[in-house]
Amino acid sequence: MQAEAPQTIYLKDYTPFGWHVESVHLTFRLAPHSTRVLSKIRFAPNPDAPAQTFFLHGEMLKLIAAKIDGAPVTPDVTDEGLTVAVPSGAFLWEAEVEIDPKGNTALEGLYMSNGMYCTQCEAEGFRKITYYPDRPDVMSTFTVRIEGDEKVKLSNGNPQAEGDGFAEWHDPWPKPAYLFALVAGDLVNHPGAFTTMSGKDVELNIWVRPGDEDKCAFGMEALKKSMKWDEEVYGREYDLDIFNIVAVDDFNMGAMENKGLNVFNSSCVLASPETSTDANFERVEAIIAHEYFHNWTGNRITCRDWFQLCLKEGLTVFRDSQFTSDMRSAPVKRISDVIDLRGRQFPEDQGPLSHPVRPESFQEINNFYTATVYEKGAEVIGMLKRLVGDEAYAKALDLYFDRHDGQACTIEDWLKVFEDATGRDLSQFKRWYSQAGTPRVSVSESFADGTYSLTFRQETTPTPGQPEKAPQVIPLAVGLLNPNGDEVLPTTLLEFNQSEQTFNFNGFAAKPVPSLLRGFSAPVVLDRDAGREEQAFLLAHDTDTFTRWDAGRQLARETLVDMILTGATPDMAYIDGLEAVLRDETLDPAYRALMMGTPSQSELAQVLADRGHVPDPDAIWQAAETLAQVKAERWTDLLPRLAAEAEVTGTYSPDAEQSARRALGAAVLSLQTRLDGGAAAEAQFARADNMTLQLSALSNLIRAGRDEAALKAFEDQWRGDRLVMDKWFGLQIAATTPEKVVPRTEALTAHPAFDWKNPNRFRAVMGAMMTHHAGFHSADGAGYRLLADWLIRLDDVNPQTTARMCQAFQTWRRYDAGRQETIRTELERIRSKQKLSRDVDEMVSRILG
Ligand code: ARG
Ligand code: ZN
Repeated sequence: MQAEAPQTIYLKDYTPFGWHVESVHLTFRLAPHSTRVLSKIRFAPNPDAPAQTFFLHGEMLKLIAAKIDGAPVTPDVTDEGLTVAVPSGAFLWEAEVEIDPKGNTALEGLYMSNGMYCTQCEAEGFRKITYYPDRPDVMSTFTVRIEGDEKVKLSNGNPQAEGDGFAEWHDPWPKPAYLFALVAGDLVNHPGAFTTMSGKDVELNIWVRPGDEDKCAFGMEALKKSMKWDEEVYGREYDLDIFNIVAVDDFNMGAMENKGLNVFNSSCVLASPETSTDANFERVEAIIAHEYFHNWTGNRITCRDWFQLCLKEGLTVFRDSQFTSDMRSAPVKRISDVIDLRGRQFPEDQGPLSHPVRPESFQEINNFYTATVYEKGAEVIGMLKRLVGDEAYAKALDLYFDRHDGQACTIEDWLKVFEDATGRDLSQFKRWYSQAGTPRVSVSESFADGTYSLTFRQETTPTPGQPEKAPQVIPLAVGLLNPNGDEVLPTTLLEFNQSEQTFNFNGFAAKPVPSLLRGFSAPVVLDRDAGREEQAFLLAHDTDTFTRWDAGRQLARETLVDMILTGATPDMAYIDGLEAVLRDETLDPAYRALMMGTPSQSELAQVLADRGHVPDPDAIWQAAETLAQVKAERWTDLLPRLAAEAEVTGTYSPDAEQSARRALGAAVLSLQTRLDGGAAAEAQFARADNMTLQLSALSNLIRAGRDEAALKAFEDQWRGDRLVMDKWFGLQIAATTPEKVVPRTEALTAHPAFDWKNPNRFRAVMGAMMTHHAGFHSADGAGYRLLADWLIRLDDVNPQTTARMCQAFQTWRRYDAGRQETIRTELERIRSKQKLSRDVDEMVSRILG
């Protein structure tokens, strides 16, 4: 239990800091347990700020000495920082502190990973390095001197001097402390170069541990493509002489956009055909782009305070998805993003952790790096672009960069550039930032005298702290098809901005069929109860790739719900309609692979709960199994044909074309395994020469219960590769049958290679368990207990990763009384732990409600 009640921070309480920071000079004398940090910081009064006591953040620091204008001072020091009397004008603050990087297991601030020093300062980690106004609206230039024996010593900006045992860096661009970074260790680099659009040469490096050099080439290409793309599409040029990326094994998140020195979880930058799947390659490409794009959307223009996080994250996710759409298949990217949104953001937005894209309060900001801030934040920008049009979007972005370069901004600033660029009033649109919850849109239609009418209603159920919701402006992209399947109204954008609204379309001889929410034009739940015939028609004829795919998805959902609730057999109209699509060789194999997917079991649980049923995880599992089995048996002709189409000849490439075939191949293999008990998978496992094929084979062998030899062989082959072993740990839980999930998880936590302090390894195992719906929710509560045991253990070491994984319990109110009671008990047990972190305390309290 926490000693004191944690403090809540409110957006409405924002006040500027009382001083400007004119320059920062830092010297690091590196030592694993006793690094000294010497700071010289020039402060000058901020005339625009209210009078206040001079306070610097600082946590886990040992203050050795402090001076103001050269004279020793004795500040008042607490666990959170210090206060001290300061002169009324400008002054020089100097401090020397000692920190313990090796003892830092929370991986925030300066810490060590495999013998190398590295930092993670976003959001509030810099205060664990030295005393500082650690808030994003305080920006300054940094000069950094690193002293130590390490071969490589890096910081932000450009290198300025280097000599025996030291290196100096200077970053000319004013930045907040959260963008500070330092890396030191015996690293090796994969070099590259890029010439910017104005002809400036930039040195590029990816720094890795010796042994990982052969996994950098793909990341380097992705970086160059990102730099080029941002010039071409957004007119943004890189602004330093050097750009460094470092791979770190112990990292809480994916990666971090520190100015000129991006630090990556090694899983998000290292890639090779033998060790990485196609999906890994695509993710690496996207994350490199994401972090690079932050150089403008995040670094040059940053956030005034952490409530504005979506200003940089929503926009940067939007930009990286545009990039991926341009590099690969736009329809496939859109569908994948929607699957992800529905799988992660919708449950968050519809449960106890629901919060606005721009939250209004928090206790621990690390708990707000969420799917809502990131992914819904990106959807909101997509809607804005749809509403104003591509040209106005480009104009508004130019204005944004022009007007706000070098500033720390708010969502108000962001919306204002759109208002100024377009003359549009965006006050209603702003509700997308302030109202939490997923709007539900219901539809009814009528047809008379050649006029077709669509009436929409919107409703958002109450979310924590927000009982009442006002109507939002929802861009609805719609098209109409005539009964022959010809498009009679091409995609048209409706601005649906009232609780209820009717749109009329004239001049039809027969009642058309609507294709709604094309391209998933808004992050809403569309409740359209039009029957399966219409969905089957759209699956066959829709010209919009998203709604066509979604029609198949809805058919799958409806038949699964029927099977679960009434024991019905699968709907053959769905299976045959899908088969027709799968046989269409003009369609991208990746698109057809997506068509073969069905809603996740967790999504089905939510659908059942929404319709007033208590979801039974075993019944859901069983229905999904039966549906797959029936498809496999029905498609004995089709599967070999698709398998032939999925064959890739020539050398491996992770490009869209080859990955598409392998994705189709994997979907086929999972059905094939139901017919042959794993024979085809075994053959594929034996001949696989890339990780994509090896892993899909292994996954099916696990599913078929024919995995003993393969798991052993895989472990023998890959025990020296941490990232591949993460897959080995995770897959044998993720791909197995429900009854094996908890025992296997338990057994794997006893494996000598279960290094639970490494976030990737912990997530590989516990993350796999908690996302196996039927396995995690096993009726005896064993999954809940096992997860809680480990969260309690991890909290003392790494609160941030622990808090994140509490999300496993966010959907608890969907389930039956017995499960709810067990989960409540486990959450209470976590909450009553000794020295519970602020991170986990906040999460558990919100989940319990
Ligand atoms: N800004 C980083 C990104 O999205 C994420 C860093 C989050 N770190 C954290 N400790 N909350 O690219
Ligand atoms: Zn980001």
